[in-house]
Amino acid sequence: MNASAQISQDEAKRRAAARAAEFVRPGMRLGLGTGSTAAFFVDILGGMVRDGLDVVGVPTSERTRAQAQSLGIRLSTLDETPELDLTVDGADEFDASLRLIKGGGGALLREKIVAAASAKMVVITDASKEVTMLGRFPLPVEVDRFGMESTRRHIVRAIADCGLAGAVALRTGADGHAFVTDGGHCIFDCGLGAISDPERLAARLVAIPGVVEHGLFIGLATAVIIAGADGVRLIGAPD
Ligand code: A5P
Repeated sequence: MNASAQISQDEAKRRAAARAAEFVRPGMRLGLGTGSTAAFFVDILGGMVRDGLDVVGVPTSERTRAQAQSLGIRLSTLDETPELDLTVDGADEFDASLRLIKGGGGALLREKIVAAASAKMVVITDASKEVTMLGRFPLPVEVDRFGMESTRRHIVRAIADCGLAGAVALRTGADGHAFVTDGGHCIFDCGLGAISDPERLAARLVAIPGVVEHGLFIGLATAVIIAGADGVRLIGAPD
């Protein structure tokens, strides 16, 4: 067996995060993503700040806020700092066109707002997240808690209108209760298998009253850094 094939998924995530850190410049306004891969990046950034780097970060979740705060990273909000230079975040899936599925960690709404406020979005992943067609990972759809069953039925119809099918299941937490996002919403996970036309599905989903946001990130990522047994690969333009 090739010795390089033995790197763990965590080590791959750390390597992707370390590569992304090379694109950070002094004075940058950074969007800080959520999830296990983004957490490696925040850790590395914390080390850089400790060594004297001056940047300001806008976290995409309360989890990331707590981590960044504990590392002494200067934080801001999008109200104070509405335009960012670079967001570094993970993804649940990506394709060759830099389209993503995000939201496995439940932070998709703030992640999308922060990414949209950023001049660049660099996605960091291990090689397992690469797909030829999005949809293997269940698509998270964040909904207002009012009228959720009605919203769920609209989602099922929108999916069918796009020629797709699959379970639309309310996400639950470890306690068995509905998972609630930082924004106070719930999430339906849509097990679609393959999404042949993500743009069409995205347009249908955002048009549903009660849908707050969905996990299709289209036209937001400017680069993806993929770390695997064969090294670190980059697609797109990180800077
Ligand atoms: C958080 O809501 C998600 O969008 C994460 O970015 C995504 O789930 C990737 O998470 P991991 O890095 O933990 O795989």
